Amino acid sequence: MSGKDVIEEIAKRIPSLSQKNKLSIAVLASGNGSNLQALMDRAKTKGSQFVITTVITNIPTAKALVRAKTAGLDHHLVDHNAFAKKSDFERALLSILAKKPVDIVVLAGFMRVLGKTFLRAFDHRIINLHPSLLPKHPGLNAVEKALLAKDDKAGCTVHLVDEGLDTGPIIAQASCPIDPNDDVKSLSERIKTLEHQLLPSVINDIALSTLRFGCP
Ligand code: GRF
Repeated sequence: MSGKDVIEEIAKRIPSLSQKNKLSIAVLASGNGSNLQALMDRAKTKGSQFVITTVITNIPTAKALVRAKTAGLDHHLVDHNAFAKKSDFERALLSILAKKPVDIVVLAGFMRVLGKTFLRAFDHRIINLHPSLLPKHPGLNAVEKALLAKDDKAGCTVHLVDEGLDTGPIIAQASCPIDPNDDVKSLSERIKTLEHQLLPSVINDIALSTLRFGCP
């Protein structure tokens, strides 16, 4: 399945664009939130086809939360440690999302693996960003793994989320060469620059596809 096909599969599951013909996205992030920032910046530009309707983090100290607050976006902390069961944590996330228009959920550095409760609620409508050229190096420490494997290139992948760990259908990738002098920091920075371009552009493409192929 090509990335374009995957985007159409997503678009077909979106009933109608809820806000002024723009795709409403919820962003889940656990850390710095530089990709959230890239999405916020892109959403503000002329011609952007998406809006961020809510931001949720699971980490009290996440800079992503501060970024959302500063931007005046609806934002929430749902600390996974407060829940004995993963399904209860996911229900808490879903109850927040139910209060806003949400066409798709974007995981931008969200460091929890989502289970059935959440996946069923947003079937084919959850997008993840991963710092490797999947299927290479799924899971944690992907940049380090690329260096250890002595790969000659690295990059990032935007994919649909399924029940596996970074195994869902690939939508788009961007790559860069690995320099012999690279360390985790330098390579991560180069990959981040790619991510900040790729993720907003894929979300915009999903919005455009929803206008063409979405549910009537
Ligand atoms: C990104 O590298 C993304 O690929 C991974 O987590 C990182 C999040 O970075 N899933 P940031 O919090 O957006 O800066």
